[in-house]
Amino acid sequence: MIHTRIDILAELQKPGLEELAKSFQARTYARKTQIFLPNHEQDLIFIVSSGRTRIYLAYEDKEFTLAILERGDVYSTHTRAYVYALEETTLLCAPTSQVRKHMLRIPEFTGTMVRVLSELLKHSISIIDDLAFRDVQSRIVRFMRFVSKQSGVAEAGGVLLNLGLTTEEFASLVGTTRQTLSTMLNSLERDGLIELRGRGAIFIPDAAALE
Ligand code: HEM
Repeated sequence: MIHTRIDILAELQKPGLEELAKSFQARTYARKTQIFLPNHEQDLIFIVSSGRTRIYLAYEDKEFTLAILERGDVYSTHTRAYVYALEETTLLCAPTSQVRKHMLRIPEFTGTMVRVLSELLKHSISIIDDLAFRDVQSRIVRFMRFVSKQSGVAEAGGVLLNLGLTTEEFASLVGTTRQTLSTMLNSLERDGLIELRGRGAIFIPDAAALE
C-alpha cells in the first residue's frame, strides 16, 4: 500500500485551525538522546518538525525498531514504544485531549496517522515473522545443507536435492507443520534462494547465499 505524503505542518497553518496550532509547543532534543520512555506521564501527540526519531520496543537486551519518523510524521506518547532522537530533532507536542477535540476538522491528520501506523504495522509484522518463523527457517536450511552433503547432485553451478519426501515427511523432520514448511519454502523460492521442482526435488542455485 502506498500512502501519499501529506504536509500536516502546512495544514496546521490553515485558517480556522489557529486554536489547535497554538496547542502545539516546539521542543528540541539533541542527537542521540532519549525523548520519551513508554507511556510517558503526559499523554501527548507530536509532529516531527525536523530531524529523525526512532520508535522502538525494548525488552532486556532486545530492541525492535517499529518506525523511523521524519518531518511531518505524527506519533503519540501513550504507547509501549520508546522514542529516540537519531539526529537533532524538533517535535511539536500537544496534549492528546486537545488534538482529539479538533481532529475531525483536519482529515489530513488522520491520513498522516494512517501512514505512520501502517509503517508501524509493517515492521511489527516483520518482527512477528522473525520471532515465530526464524528458527523453523534455520532448521529447514540446516536440513537442506545436510541432504546436499549426503546426496546433492551438482548442476549448473548449484546443487539439486532429490529429497524423496512428501511435504508431511519433510515437515516432521524439521519439526514444523506442513503449512509452515510450505510458507517457508515458498518464501525462499520468492527470494530466489531455492527452486521447487516438484516431487520433492529442490534446486539450490547458490548454497552460500542460502546460508
Ligand atoms: C487524538 C488522538 C488520539 C487519541 C484520542 C488516541 C487514543 C488512544 C487510546 C485510548 C489508546 C489505547 C490506550 C490503552 O490501551 O491504554 C491508544 C493506543 C495507541 N495509540 Fe492512540 N490516540 C490518538 C492518537 C494517536 C496517534 C497520532 C498515534 C500514532 C500515529 C497513536 C498510536 C497509538 C498506538 C500505537 C497505540 C497502541 C499502544 C500500545 O498498546 O502500545 N495514537 N490511543
